[in-house]
Amino acid sequence: MMTTATSHCSQSARVSIIGAGNVGSTLGQRLVEKNLADVVLLDIQPGRPKGLALDLIEARGVERHDRTIIGTDDYAHTQNSDLIVITAGIARKPGMSRDDLLKINANIVVNVVKQAIAQSPNAIILMVTNPLDVMTYLAWEAADIPPRQVLGMAGVLDAARFGTFIALELDVSIMDVNAMVLGGHGDLMVPLPRYSTVSGIPITELMDELTIERLVERTRNGGAEIVSLMQAGSAYFAPASSACAMVESILYDRARILPAAVYLNGEYGLSDIFIGVPACLGRSGISQVLELDLLEAEQIALHNSATAIRKSIEAAKALLGGCQT
Ligand code: APR
Repeated sequence: MMTTATSHCSQSARVSIIGAGNVGSTLGQRLVEKNLADVVLLDIQPGRPKGLALDLIEARGVERHDRTIIGTDDYAHTQNSDLIVITAGIARKPGMSRDDLLKINANIVVNVVKQAIAQSPNAIILMVTNPLDVMTYLAWEAADIPPRQVLGMAGVLDAARFGTFIALELDVSIMDVNAMVLGGHGDLMVPLPRYSTVSGIPITELMDELTIERLVERTRNGGAEIVSLMQAGSAYFAPASSACAMVESILYDRARILPAAVYLNGEYGLSDIFIGVPACLGRSGISQVLELDLLEAEQIALHNSATAIRKSIEAAKALLGGCQT
């Protein structure tokens, strides 16, 4: 059983969102209301995606679009998706680090990716579930597809947060701010002030070091700050906006350069890892990885972040191996 509505759009892009929680449903809303794609919302709780889909379908009477929205618990309804977004998992709770989520979410991610890719073997997978960089690696292994077709959403969100804090601090429009954040989506992320600009001017020319360090710290704690304010639940508006921008660049072959968790094969001196770096996002997934010229301290910070991700990947693999025996 599913809840659906017919579309008048031909040859529509189709995005399946696995996990119709806060991030998944908000992303679904953004995609249909921006008229970017038809959407399938799938969740392990069968009633939730069906109810959300019906609610979004009814909103069409006001929003005036003809996008199809399906709510389901059956992977057959995700068949032939162009893009699969994975948000399934447990969200971070107060006091819980992203790595605390590892055990629970590794099993969920491997399980849902296998089922989703079986229905859409040519799809691109966008991972959102935390801990992000580790889950992206596990998703790639589980999907068994070329690494350029798998990527993780974190850098766009972290850069959006950094950019917001820069705009607030300088009292300028966010329109002219471009921030850059490398590394894993966690405490060891690497915000890059030298590559963060206001109308092309590096913020290192606009703020003193202490101010920049304060904004960097707030960016690193961006997710935790919201968790502690909300008490129950975690951020979802900015994560959904970030995933939506990535989906749009991929589906419409916009070739935007966005920070994303992508597979590295020697770039930045790192191999066999998914970690946040600037990459070109288009219809084939990742068409190129951009290598920034890093200072020694920045390079060390990126490698420290990579080391932490590798440890978590090993821990997750050991756990999954243990579960399979
Ligand atoms: N299959 C399908 N859906 C699942 C499964 C599964 N095996 N396990 C859990 N889910 C669903 C839950 O039922 C829930 O609806 O995933 C959804 C997760 O939604 P929320 O708990 O609302 O979490 P959300 O805030 O959306 O965050 C999702 O994104 O940003 C990250 O850290 C965040 O990992 C978390 C993910």
